[in-house]
Amino acid sequence: MSFWQENLSIGKLIVPRFMAAPLDGITDSPLRQLIRDFSPTELLMTEMRHVSCVSNEKDQRSLKYRPVEHPLSFQFSANREQFLQEAVDKVIERGFLMINLNSGCPAPVVTRSGSGSALMADLPKLEMLIKLFVKAIDGRVPFTLKIRAGYKQKNAVEVAKLAEASGVDCLMIHPRTQPEGFTSRLDYAIVAEIKKAIKIPVVFSGNINKFETAQKVYDLTGSDGFMIGRALWGAPWKMREITDAAQGKTFNISTLETLEYALKHLDINLLEFGPRGFIPFKKQLPQYIRGVNNAAVWRGTLLRTQTAEEMREHIVRLIDEHRTAPCATL
Ligand SMILES: Cc1cc2nc3c(=O)[nH]c(=O)nc-3n(C[C@H](O)[C@H](O)[C@H](O)COP(=O)(O)O)c2cc1C
Repeated sequence: MSFWQENLSIGKLIVPRFMAAPLDGITDSPLRQLIRDFSPTELLMTEMRHVSCVSNEKDQRSLKYRPVEHPLSFQFSANREQFLQEAVDKVIERGFLMINLNSGCPAPVVTRSGSGSALMADLPKLEMLIKLFVKAIDGRVPFTLKIRAGYKQKNAVEVAKLAEASGVDCLMIHPRTQPEGFTSRLDYAIVAEIKKAIKIPVVFSGNINKFETAQKVYDLTGSDGFMIGRALWGAPWKMREITDAAQGKTFNISTLETLEYALKHLDINLLEFGPRGFIPFKKQLPQYIRGVNNAAVWRGTLLRTQTAEEMREHIVRLIDEHRTAPCATL
């Protein structure tokens, strides 16, 4: 069996090497349900939610998911002990198979309170939180940590060692600092250094949108796992395309099929979020219609829609047009 076909052990959970990254507002339950049509076994992750939100929200909205989304990991943000145990208990009782702590989010609205990547600049607090999570989880599910190369200064190697020594089962890293956001050069060397410094699995997150990129990441860093993030945005088939390529197979999807998936996505959004579910769907739209003629014009028309019915009618019309016309393959 080749490296790419082998599974990855994260604590007691065994999953494929490729997994979906958490993208707040994007990899929500509807997109995760659609990813499952193409990738039935890969690990998926919820968007980040603060421990106090999970512990206190009345409608338990952040704990909602469909069984088809398993294996599914829950991602927390945290900056203090308060509510941590209650939140962890709720997540485990709800059936999530892994818990992840976000120590990588660069958004000022998150770092201002000391959560997300700001934790990398306060190692005593990060260590305290990791130990509190390990204690609260008490071996019931694996506990993983998602970091950056550092907050303002690069200290990911030190953080990785601290994480391993404090009981983290797997480290996920997006090797950019907080000011570097999501677009600057990725620091492969720091991930290679981490791989040499710790024994727990290391999962790489950053710019993986085709198998060749994952291969390059492996050659440069020796990473054990590979996260697909923005490539899945409005493209639930993307991880399948990559895992098929890893097995020497070619995955094709026609424009007609991507349009049918757009409609399916809209309908799941309406089911999960109610009549206003067409609004978050707009964020997912551009990829789905990439292959149609006059895509830019269609994008404008669809983004201006004011109701779910109007959006639905337009997509159905596009589908009908592509049923009668020869469909281009993306
Ligand atoms: C819109 C957006 C939302 C994100 N939300 C989260 C999040 O909730 N939790 C997290 O750990 N990372 C989050 N990330 C970071 C991604 O998980 C990932 O590490 C990053 O996008 C790099 O991978 P990619 O190039 O494959 O997208 C987010 C990134 C983007 C662009």
